[in-house]
Amino acid sequence: MENSILRYSLVERVMHWIAAVTYCYVLLTGLAFYSPHLYWIAMVLGGAPTSRFWHPWIAVTFFGVLLWMLRTWAADMRITSVDRAWGKQMKRYIENDDEALPPIDRFNLGQKYFFWAMLFAGFVLLVSGTVLWIPEKLPWSLRDVRYIAVLLHVSSALLTIGAFIIHVYMGTAMVRGGFTSIIRGEVSPAWAKMHHRLWYQRVAGK
Ligand code: HEM
Repeated sequence: MENSILRYSLVERVMHWIAAVTYCYVLLTGLAFYSPHLYWIAMVLGGAPTSRFWHPWIAVTFFGVLLWMLRTWAADMRITSVDRAWGKQMKRYIENDDEALPPIDRFNLGQKYFFWAMLFAGFVLLVSGTVLWIPEKLPWSLRDVRYIAVLLHVSSALLTIGAFIIHVYMGTAMVRGGFTSIIRGEVSPAWAKMHHRLWYQRVAGK
């Protein structure tokens, strides 16, 4: 694309899509374990023992990618006073009146909340999931911890599902040009100026 601006490097895109694929696998196998009505998903994905074996390992990989994202995007994900001002005008964003919003940097407040919610819930899922992965290693005196682990595992999974649905909807249907940027890496200067003006000024030197 002529005059395009690099929004996501190749490494960032690979990182993102590993997160997406691993998350979807863990989500689907997790749903299969959650309800008998969804058990067929495990059958489609190679059978119940295969799903039970890979679910925790792929989940650990997903959490590893979240840490990789944290290392890569920590500075971009920090919530600033600019974001708080933007957050107060969120109504305008919902009404698609982007021009009336205060200019923001690389990510908007919603994107930042999404990232921190996934990281937080991912951590809770990892810790509670470890208890459910190897319950026999838990001392008998702590056996009730398993109940708490089930509760935490399900509620944090629900949090990620809600966040994930919003993320995919925003990225594919609502913000035009966003999906192309996470595939090809590039956006037009007009897109950058419209959605992330401070970031545009920083990277384009304008
Ligand atoms: C099939 C699933 C997914 C799709 C279609 C998708 C789509 C997208 C799109 C279009 C963007 C670029 C948004 C922009 O810059 O305007 C993006 C960014 C991003 N994605 Fe995803 N994504 C998916 C799964 C995931 C998962 C599972 C995670 C887990 C953490 C994730 C984390 C992020 C983050 C942190 C960003 C940067 C900030 C943001 O836009 O929220 N994505 N994604």
